[in-house]
Amino acid sequence: MKKISGEGEFKENCAICHPDGGNIINPAKTLHKKDLDAGGIKKPADIIAKMRKPGPGMTQFDKKTVPDKEANAIAVYILKTFK
Ligand code: HEC
Repeated sequence: MKKISGEGEFKENCAICHPDGGNIINPAKTLHKKDLDAGGIKKPADIIAKMRKPGPGMTQFDKKTVPDKEANAIAVYILKTFK
């Protein structure tokens, strides 16, 4: 079985639009704390909710593409990595 790190899944699914926690499509909505706070995104569940129901320009990730366990690992990785 594949080991879930959060980092690997982030690189695989998210880094193309969010390199280094940035945002190549909407630069006001990076994954850095200041921008996340501005959107009320504070905990892993908030990031998972965004993946399941994204805003304009972001790919949707359903449970088949990214199961809850992986989604949670990605969310934890984002919150601890991009300050
Ligand atoms: C095709 C490009 C694209 C991909 C791939 C993508 N995103 Fe996004 N993301 C966006 C765009 C555009 C926005 C701004 C619109 C919005 O708020 O949904 C965004 C916004 C976000 C936000 C809110 C940021 C803020 O400051 O409010 C989070 C959290 C997020 N993405 C997480 C992820 C995660 C986790 C993944 C991978 C599983 C991912 N994104 C993959 C384009 C992308």
